Amino acid sequence: MSAHKPLPHDAAQLHVTGAARYVDDIPTPADCLHLAFGISSVAAGTVTAMDLDAVRSAPGVVAVMAAADFDVIPDCSPSNHDEPLVSDGAVHYLGQPLFLVVAESHLAARKAARAAEVSYTETGAILTIEDALAAGSIFEDGPRVYTKGDVTAALAGADHVADGRIEIGGQEHFYLEGQAALALPQEDGDMIVQSSSQHPTEIQHKVADALGLPMHGVRVEVRRMGGGFGGKESQGNHLAIACAVAARATGRPCKMRYDRDDDFLITGKRHDFRIDYRVGFGKDGRIAGVDFTQYVRCGWSMDLSLPVADRAMLHADNAYLLPAARITSHRLRTNTQSATAFRGFGGPQGMVGIERVMDHVAHILGRDPLEVRRVNYYPAAQAASSDAGTGDIPGAKTGAPLDTADLAGRGSVRVEGGSGGARRFGAAYSPAPAVTGNTTPYGMKVEDFILHEMTEALSESCDYAGRRAAVAAWNATQPVLKKGIALTPVKFGISFTLTHLNQAGALVHVYQDGSIHMNHGGTEMGQGLFQKVAQVAASRFGVGLERVKITATDTGKVPNTSATAASSGTDLNGMAVKAACDEIRARIARIAAPHLQAEPEAVIFEAGMLRAGGAEMTFEEAVSMTYMARVSLSATGFYSTPRLDWDRIAGQGRPFFYFAYGAACTEVVIDTLTGENRILRTDILHDCGASLNPALDIGQIEGGFVQGAGWLTTEELVWDARGALRTHAPSTYKIPACSDQPDIFNVALWDRPNWEETIYRSKAVGEPPLMLGISVLMALSDACAASGPAYPDLHAPATAEEVLRAVGRARA
Ligand code: MTE
Ligand code: MOS
Repeated sequence: MSAHKPLPHDAAQLHVTGAARYVDDIPTPADCLHLAFGISSVAAGTVTAMDLDAVRSAPGVVAVMAAADFDVIPDCSPSNHDEPLVSDGAVHYLGQPLFLVVAESHLAARKAARAAEVSYTETGAILTIEDALAAGSIFEDGPRVYTKGDVTAALAGADHVADGRIEIGGQEHFYLEGQAALALPQEDGDMIVQSSSQHPTEIQHKVADALGLPMHGVRVEVRRMGGGFGGKESQGNHLAIACAVAARATGRPCKMRYDRDDDFLITGKRHDFRIDYRVGFGKDGRIAGVDFTQYVRCGWSMDLSLPVADRAMLHADNAYLLPAARITSHRLRTNTQSATAFRGFGGPQGMVGIERVMDHVAHILGRDPLEVRRVNYYPAAQAASSDAGTGDIPGAKTGAPLDTADLAGRGSVRVEGGSGGARRFGAAYSPAPAVTGNTTPYGMKVEDFILHEMTEALSESCDYAGRRAAVAAWNATQPVLKKGIALTPVKFGISFTLTHLNQAGALVHVYQDGSIHMNHGGTEMGQGLFQKVAQVAASRFGVGLERVKITATDTGKVPNTSATAASSGTDLNGMAVKAACDEIRARIARIAAPHLQAEPEAVIFEAGMLRAGGAEMTFEEAVSMTYMARVSLSATGFYSTPRLDWDRIAGQGRPFFYFAYGAACTEVVIDTLTGENRILRTDILHDCGASLNPALDIGQIEGGFVQGAGWLTTEELVWDARGALRTHAPSTYKIPACSDQPDIFNVALWDRPNWEETIYRSKAVGEPPLMLGISVLMALSDACAASGPAYPDLHAPATAEEVLRAVGRARA
């Protein structure tokens, strides 16, 4: 069975040979036109005059479209109808599209876009969190607040109270493939759109709106993205809509891709945050109550900022039981790019807040931060059973029958090569009995808390205690270089917090020759979703993976899909594909059973055969028989996540199906004269449930960690006083390079089936590992603290300059 095997990414060879086809590689008809936006050069105000004559007469220009050229300016917003395709006269940020150039070539369009003469009246731009607070510039009526218990009383009664603040910078997605779209006009006004998007249904919906068509008039196809990271959940709308309206206007195919600088200037990034805290705690470090105020810089339009800010609140506890908590969230509107989804979707920022609190509390008490973290962990789920390896899930809680055959014999699977020799931990299956005092600030019970065991296993395997002592010894003798070490946990909630999005569909065909065509609503952005879901399909039919054709996501095959996001791609689409396969499998079994002298239920699909008792036939024979019997070999599948119940306004309920866990230990060294720093070693233990594909999962863990470390260290976005983003290319914006990986980098999987009934008992892995990067920030804080008596108050990103400032604060 191919499920659980560490197979390479299905397109790995195409990726490395350059043969993988992205939107910009699709051969276009000879009459294809190319688009570029002309963008604003001020951050706030109104356009008083826009002379586009020079643009219109520039070489190769076919059309120019500004506000006046539309009856209704198409809207590009995923949420609030507040993003006109081109400015309606109001300017909200520096980089906002003002007009659209349609030309014979990409270069001609870009050159012409610069020839416009635009004059503005400028108004005072609201750029920073402080500006927005002063101006009362905020989304929704006011701040949102979640509370648990009586925080004021908890703080008043605590042995110690500490105040602090951390600033957390944003992050550019820096997907290797920039935003791109291609629109191909069809007969009778219909449109086909190729888009680099995590959300084909939304592209379809927005393009249909822009063209005045029902959704059935637009078909969107996405074969793959060269990375999305959340930056292609909503930010591709503008390009697809621009191409569609230009294609409608000219009758010719239209393509648009942003040059990298334009991508930086136009599209949204991770939200930057300021988090203020007041924490009350005991002498043992146990938290009595914490009051968080999260200031969220949302940019100019709403986009996905409300759910992003919600998720930051939902992760303000991370792995810790907070007896009393108040979390206040200000969603601030600023004249900057509209901040958007980015791996973790606000969760990482919320988590940095509480990790900072743990670090600060430990510093005040002079205790090991890991000890303070552990005393505050949620209570452990007691191991109810340890007969792993039998394939049985004792007393599976959700009732519905699990295909126990699928789990048979896989108690502690070893990685079979190809995955960097990673070790895997865990074997016993320990589901969750009732534990008291395990409620999150939003009223959800944490039923499956496994971080006690994971932390124990990781701190032993990486010799945390020994190395902490060695770091202290080093710091005692070294005047210039200081080392730091930190072990931090991750508990990340899996599900869309907008409950209705937790659904998926699939379409599976089995052809007469026994080959399988598989389609579902998920999109491939490098994370390996297609391969994992193909492994599910192959496993259901008991055939080799080579029989399963992976196909592009297509709104004409599976409708009404959710974005591939919230790490739930495999959970949702894997289950939908399983449902479709099982439907077809039952039909084949019904036809084949009499020939095997068995009941249909007794027929087993394995190793390319159908078997019952001693009898068997090949899968092809059975398929051919089913066809001859005039029984359908095609089916749709559908899945919706159970057990969800969430009221986002009240901040109460069960927003998540389950949690994914992880822990990372990182050791760093800093130069106290220059602030330069390096990661010396990182050890990770991460929970993927019963991994569907350990090789792909380890890839996600390594990549997520490095991306998180980049966010918190070298990736700095700098806007100048005019609101111009000055870091808009790799020359000024520093993402991690291969050489920025830890010198020693050990990744292991915590190998236990998910307690909840997910696809083959796996767990989502896309976003959670990003937050393992928080261990780097905390290790840097530890190193800064070694250079003086005061708490260093290290902010993120911890660039060399910031580390130097923090060293100064520690010494003050
Ligand atoms: N991995 C790669 N290689 N490229 C990506 O763009 N996006 C991340 C994560 N891992 C991403 C990635 C984000 S933001 C999410 S939500 C998940 O993948 C989405 O895919 P999944 O739900 O299939 O895990
Ligand atoms: Mo991921 S930020 O949910 O696309």
